[in-house]
Amino acid sequence: MPGEKFVVTPWEVSGVVDYDRLIREFGTRPISGQLEKKFEEILGDAAYLVRRRVFFSHRDLDLVLDDHTKGKGLFLYTGRGPSGPMHIGHIIQFYFTKWLQDKLHAPVYIQITDDEKFLEEKRNLSYEDTQHWAVDNILEIAAVGFDPDRTFILQDTEFVGHAYPLILKIARRVNYSVAKSVFGFTGETNIGFSFYPSIQILPSLLEKRRCLIPSAIDQDPFWRIQRDIAEPMGYHKAAAVHSKFLPALTGVEDKMSSSQPDTTIDLGDDDKTVRKKIYRYAFSGGQATKEEHRQKGGDTDVDVPFQWLYMFFEPDDKRIEKIRTEYKGGQMLTGDLKDILIEKVTSFLNEHRQRKEKARSLVPLYKKDGALAREMWKRDFSKS
Ligand code: TYM
Repeated sequence: MPGEKFVVTPWEVSGVVDYDRLIREFGTRPISGQLEKKFEEILGDAAYLVRRRVFFSHRDLDLVLDDHTKGKGLFLYTGRGPSGPMHIGHIIQFYFTKWLQDKLHAPVYIQITDDEKFLEEKRNLSYEDTQHWAVDNILEIAAVGFDPDRTFILQDTEFVGHAYPLILKIARRVNYSVAKSVFGFTGETNIGFSFYPSIQILPSLLEKRRCLIPSAIDQDPFWRIQRDIAEPMGYHKAAAVHSKFLPALTGVEDKMSSSQPDTTIDLGDDDKTVRKKIYRYAFSGGQATKEEHRQKGGDTDVDVPFQWLYMFFEPDDKRIEKIRTEYKGGQMLTGDLKDILIEKVTSFLNEHRQRKEKARSLVPLYKKDGALAREMWKRDFSKS
């Protein structure tokens, strides 16, 4: 049953998440009414992600869109912890952020938290592992196609030294009992990990304009702390737009995890692997036999291929509703539905991979040489 027992923290997601309850518990707001309309207009082709409540919750989205309308501008911030290969769930956040950059003409800051993934002990990654995955993951992100002069990829182990004065100012304002209650730190937590939240807050203070942060809702606890300290420091409270989690292939109750290959599709999976994973592992809401399925139809609420199409891969509202009707009515079989998803995922991944090949030359622009990157490396953070 949804929501009976679930956990959502930046470092653990388990159980069937009750998103309405999360809105209440985290103190965020649903995207609805006027705001929904305005956001959909801005998003254009990506509006289905809001219409279908994939992005369902926010903080101060109204204020940040007002700033945009009034010409005050804004900036975008998102990130990735390089703990392994990236999967489809992760990359949704980056495509969404790129669509926002295109529409809002806003700078984008992308934090690569190699420090976080080294310090997160349960992952048991060596420093070299995190460096290896940082290189790989940055290429995946570069393949998304952000504007090289308006995008700065900051890899923590390279950049935080330069920004240390501002990080110190953040860290001095967060006391340990707040960090403990927000993140669940205990006496066993290493002191690097306890300090880490001040580093994830940093990019939200890289400009004096309002910052909008797209991510799944697991990252929200960081913004709760940011919002307590930003104004007294002379900055804006971060605005955020939160998505749900793309469910694991194996079922809506499972966690998508690159360390368990049957639960997810990684960006590097070739066509054959995609086909095999979807046929073999994707949890079906269909019936046990064809005859029974034709009679009773399938359950789209638990059917992962349907959920993946609905949440990302089939933007066309008419087509997705046709699939829903035919699958529920028993005319469409599980195999047919899986074939539709396989076709969508393989063509998405093939295009992404082609761009990844060409993205190598963009990486130095995002990290060092593009206009925004140069500005950041030149900045004197002791004056922030
Ligand atoms: P990480 O690497 O765990 O996740 C990267 C992004 O993917 C989102 N995400 C998902 N989205 C949809 N479906 C899923 N199943 C799914 N799993 C993860 C995450 O919410 C995130 O947006 N600490 C961060 C890195 C970070 C960051 C940020 C993320 C630093 N600054 C600002 C977002 C915004 C991390 O380890 O993300």
